[in-house]
Amino acid sequence: MAPRYTSIVADLPSTIPFVGPETDERTFGRPYKARLGANENVFGPSPKAIKAMQDAAADIWMYADPEDYDLKGALCAHHGVGRENIVFGSGIDSLLGVLVRLLVEPGTPVVTSRGAYPTFNYHVNGFGGRLETVPYRNDKEDLEALLQRAREVDAPLIYLANPDNPMGSWHEAEGVQSFIDMLPENTVLCLDEAYIDYRPDIAPALDMNRPNVVRMRTFSKAYGMAGARVGYALGEASLIGAFDKVRDHFAMNRVSQAGALAALLDQNYLAQSVAKVETSKARIADIARQNGLSPLPSATNFVTIDAGGDGAHARALVVVLKERGVFVRMPFSPGEDRCIRISAGTDADLDILADILPQALEAL
Ligand SMILES: Cc1ncc(COP(=O)(O)O)c(C=O)c1O
Repeated sequence: MAPRYTSIVADLPSTIPFVGPETDERTFGRPYKARLGANENVFGPSPKAIKAMQDAAADIWMYADPEDYDLKGALCAHHGVGRENIVFGSGIDSLLGVLVRLLVEPGTPVVTSRGAYPTFNYHVNGFGGRLETVPYRNDKEDLEALLQRAREVDAPLIYLANPDNPMGSWHEAEGVQSFIDMLPENTVLCLDEAYIDYRPDIAPALDMNRPNVVRMRTFSKAYGMAGARVGYALGEASLIGAFDKVRDHFAMNRVSQAGALAALLDQNYLAQSVAKVETSKARIADIARQNGLSPLPSATNFVTIDAGGDGAHARALVVVLKERGVFVRMPFSPGEDRCIRISAGTDADLDILADILPQALEAL
C-alpha cells in the first residue's frame, strides 16, 4: 500500500529547501553567537506591537477575522488603496504559492532570474511549472532579459524582487516603471518588495488599475516581525479577488494581526529601526574592507560581500564562519556565489563578526 502521489509530487526531488539556523545549532550542539544569515531584523518589532501581541494572546482561542478587517483598513489608509486591493497571507512566501497556483499549470513557463529568491521557484516546481531563468547582469536582475524571455516563451508570470535578495542590488523606480509599461498584457509581474521599507524611494507609484502587476509586501523585514508571518499583496481588484478563491482564509493568526496593526501605526519606530540597520550595514561594510573583502551596495537589510574568490572559496568561508558561531548565508548561483551575505546585526553581533571573520579567513 502506498499513497498515490500526484505526478508532480512524485517527480520532485526529496530535498528540504531551507536548512534553518536552528537545525545547524542542533547539529553543532550549541547556539550561534551571532545570527546574521536569514535577513531578519534583530532590532525587533515596536514595543507597541509587542504589547498588542501580548494583549491578543489570551484571545488566541478564537479564529482570526478572515477579512483581516482592522489591519486591512489601516493599510488601505497607509497606501491610499481600497479594501479590494489587498489580500493577506502568512508572509510573502505563502502568497507566492497562492499566486503561482492561480497562474501556473503543469508545464507553464515562468520567468525569473537565475539565483533569485528560491521560495518562488519552490512554489513553481510544486505546481509543475517550468522555470525559465535569465542570468544577473552586473549583480543586478536584468530587466531587459527578463522581458525578452517572457515574450519568447509567452510566460503568464514573471518574478522580480526590488530590492533583490541575495545581491542587495536594486533598480530605480523609473526603471521598474518602464519594465511594467513594457510587460506583455497577459503576463503578470510579481514584484516582490520585501525590502522596500528600507528604500521606499525606489518603489514605482502604486497603480491599482493594472491587472497584470501584483506587489508583495511584508512585516518580516523593516517591521521586525518575521516570526509573526504577516505578508500582503497589493493589486487590481479582480486579481486580488482571485486570491480569495484558493487562499487559506485563516492563514494569519489574530496575535499577528494585532501586532502588525500596532507596528504599522508606529511609523516613528520604523524610521528608527531603518536608521539602525543603515548604521549596522555601514559597519559590516567596514569590517569587510578591513579584511580585504569588497562589500556591494545594498538597498536591503543585509550586505552582500565579494569574498574575493570563486564559489568554492565563499562556500568554505560560510562553513568556517558557521563552525565558529557566526550564521551567514550566500548566493547559490555561479558568478554571484563568489559572495557571502551578512544581515544587519546589533553592535554585539558585529563585535563578534569583527573578531571571527579574520580568524575564518586565516583558517582558509
Ligand atoms: C525577496 C524576498 N521575498 C520574500 C521573503 C520572505 O518574506 P516573508 O517573511 O513575508 O515570507 C524574503 C525573506 O528573506 C525575501 O528575501
